[in-house]
Amino acid sequence: MVLSAKGQVLQNIAVQTGIYEMTISAPEIAKSAIPGQFVMVRPIYRSFEPFLNRPFGISNINAVKGTINILYIIVGKGTDLMRELREGDDVFLIGPVGNGFTIKPEQKNIALVAGGMGIAPLLPLAKTLREKGVTTYGLMGASKAAALVGTDAWQENGVQVQIATDDGSVGQRGFVTALLEDLLNKEKIDFIYCCGPTPMMACTVEIAEKHGVPIEVSLEKRMGCGIGVCMGCICKLKEADGSVKQYRVCYDGPVFRGEEVVFDD
Ligand SMILES: Cc1cc2nc3c(=O)[nH]c(=O)nc-3n(C[C@H](O)[C@H](O)[C@H](O)COP(=O)(O)OP(=O)(O)OC[C@H]3O[C@@H](n4cnc5c(N)ncnc54)[C@H](O)[C@@H]3O)c2cc1C
Ligand code: FES
Repeated sequence: MVLSAKGQVLQNIAVQTGIYEMTISAPEIAKSAIPGQFVMVRPIYRSFEPFLNRPFGISNINAVKGTINILYIIVGKGTDLMRELREGDDVFLIGPVGNGFTIKPEQKNIALVAGGMGIAPLLPLAKTLREKGVTTYGLMGASKAAALVGTDAWQENGVQVQIATDDGSVGQRGFVTALLEDLLNKEKIDFIYCCGPTPMMACTVEIAEKHGVPIEVSLEKRMGCGIGVCMGCICKLKEADGSVKQYRVCYDGPVFRGEEVVFDD
């Protein structure tokens, strides 16, 4: 069930230059959230500044403590206001929003493929997969070492991590998709979960299809309402009969089967 709730900031710290992690007390959301869902955030509780709530993947779910985390990069007005929040400040939240990832019992060897901040929803997923005893490979792509986040948390959850950076400052130089090609040539992977920039996801789906491995992708679109009303977050999906239909990322997704997504923007 999607709730609108007052959350209280417990911690808001820089984890890299321009990248922050916020821990929020939001017991009702933490109780029902699953990996792959997100929250709509308004940084100032009683305010319309910014006018629209901003979507963020839930990067940690702690149902016992009643907390959720979000990992965010400063790009504009909303995230700039979020950076200013301190312990004890209230935030307005709508969540958990969206469908979340599908986890099937027969999946024993999993690859997580992340690009930049796309690692956020794949962090609680790694935790859940560990609880299920799944072997998990985490492939992370970033522009440079200083833009790398979340891989420590993957490792803490038993994920076998490989990194690719554009400038080679850490891991292999090049794209994360090259790591995926190598992995699929060496290991039998049952399922892939992916989140990151659109071109990277499109390429990951292509590779997954070539190797016959099913894949889910978590799409990102600019959002208005976040609850399926404004039609501001449309994506296109291929139907079984070959036609293409429009869906709402916030309401029907953000997670979709890779082979059904039309990556045309
Ligand atoms: C489902 C979902 C989950 C997300 N999870 C995360 C996350 O975990 N961590 C994170 O850092 N960000 C995440 N984002 C992106 C985040 O919502 C935006 O960065 C944020 O809304 C920007 O707000 P702003 O007011 O700071 O920037 P604005 O002032 O609104 O915009 C600044 C710049 O960023 C661009 N921009 C804003 N939103 C998006 C978007 N969705 N896609 C592409 N470009 C955009 C704008 O075009 C503009 O150029 C997610 C988005 C979606 C849809
Ligand atoms: S953001 Fe309004 S319908 Fe998705």
